[in-house]
Amino acid sequence: MSISLLGRSLLTLLDYSPEEIRYLLKLSMKVKAESKKGKIFRRFEGKTLGMLFEKRSTRTRCAFETAFGEEGGHPVFLSTADIQLGSKESLEDTARVFGRMFSAIQFRGFKQETAEILAKYSNIPVYNGLTDLYHPTQALADILTLEENFGSVKGKNLVFTGDGRNNVARSLMVICSKLGTNFTIITPAELNPDEELCKKVFPIAEKSGAVIKITSDIGAVKNADALYTDVWTSMGEDDKKEERIKLLSSYQVNQNLMDKTGNKDVIFLHCLPAVKGEEVTADVIDGIQSRAWDQAENRKHTIKALMLATLCK
Ligand code: CP
Ligand code: NVA
Repeated sequence: MSISLLGRSLLTLLDYSPEEIRYLLKLSMKVKAESKKGKIFRRFEGKTLGMLFEKRSTRTRCAFETAFGEEGGHPVFLSTADIQLGSKESLEDTARVFGRMFSAIQFRGFKQETAEILAKYSNIPVYNGLTDLYHPTQALADILTLEENFGSVKGKNLVFTGDGRNNVARSLMVICSKLGTNFTIITPAELNPDEELCKKVFPIAEKSGAVIKITSDIGAVKNADALYTDVWTSMGEDDKKEERIKLLSSYQVNQNLMDKTGNKDVIFLHCLPAVKGEEVTADVIDGIQSRAWDQAENRKHTIKALMLATLCK
C-alpha cells in the first residue's frame, strides 16, 4: 500500500493511522541520516510557513524554523502580540489570509479548536505545535528516540509519571496505542486523563496489542524500558503551581525511582523545558541514562519529515 500524506494537517495523531505514523518515522530516520552526512537539499524552495505562537517555545520554534529555512523555505514567525488576530481580526479571517500567503501553518497555543479552525478556513496543512490537549510532533520525536535505543517500540514499556492529563501524556497515550507500545501513566487520580480520551484510545490499543494503564501506584515503574516525565504545571496553568507541587512531589523522577524499575538499562525521557528539582532531579536528566537531548534534536528531524511528507511530491 503506498502512503501519501500530501496536503494533510497534523492536529492530533488520532487522525493518523499506524501505517501513516510509521511512514513519518521512517522518513524521519532518513532525514536524520542525510543531515548527519551533511547533505544539503532545497526541498522547500519557493514555499512559505506561517508560524503562529500564542505560547512561548524554544525547541518547536527552532525545529520548524531551521528545518524549513535550511532547505530554502521561508518561515515567518508570528506572535499573537504582533498581528491583528485577537484584537482587530477574527480567527477565521486570519486563517483565510494565511491560506493565501503560506504553504502551511504551524500553530502553538491554547485551544485545540483554534488549530482546527485554522485548518478549516486556510485550506492548507496546519501543524499542531502544542495545544492544551495535544503535542503530536513531540510524540513523533519521542518514538524516534525510543526506536534509536530499542529498535521497534512494539511491546516496549514506556512509563510516564507526573501530570497525567497534560498534552504530552495524552499524545503519548495516542501514539503508543497506535504503535503497540505499552504505556503506563502514573499520576494521582485528580490528574487522570479524561474519560473522553480513554474511550477513544482503549479500542485502538486493543487492536495494536498495546497495554495502556493509568494508576497512582508509583510501584508501576517496575520493568519500564523508559521513564518519561514533563513539567508539573504546563504553560497557561501558573496559578496551579503550589497545588501541583503538593500533588506530585512523590512522583518525581530521581535515581531511586530509576532503580525501582529493576532495569539497569532503563532510559529517561523529558520533552523539555524541565524544572530540575521538581519533576526530575538534575543527576537523572543530566546523567548517562537521559536521552532528553536526543529527543530535543529529534524534534527537528521529525518535523522536517512531517513537512516533507505533507508539502512535497
Ligand atoms: N518540547 C517543546 O515543545 O519545547 P518548546 O516548548 O521549547 O517548544
Ligand atoms: N506540558 C508542557 C509541555 C511543554 C513542551 C506544557 O504544555 O507547557
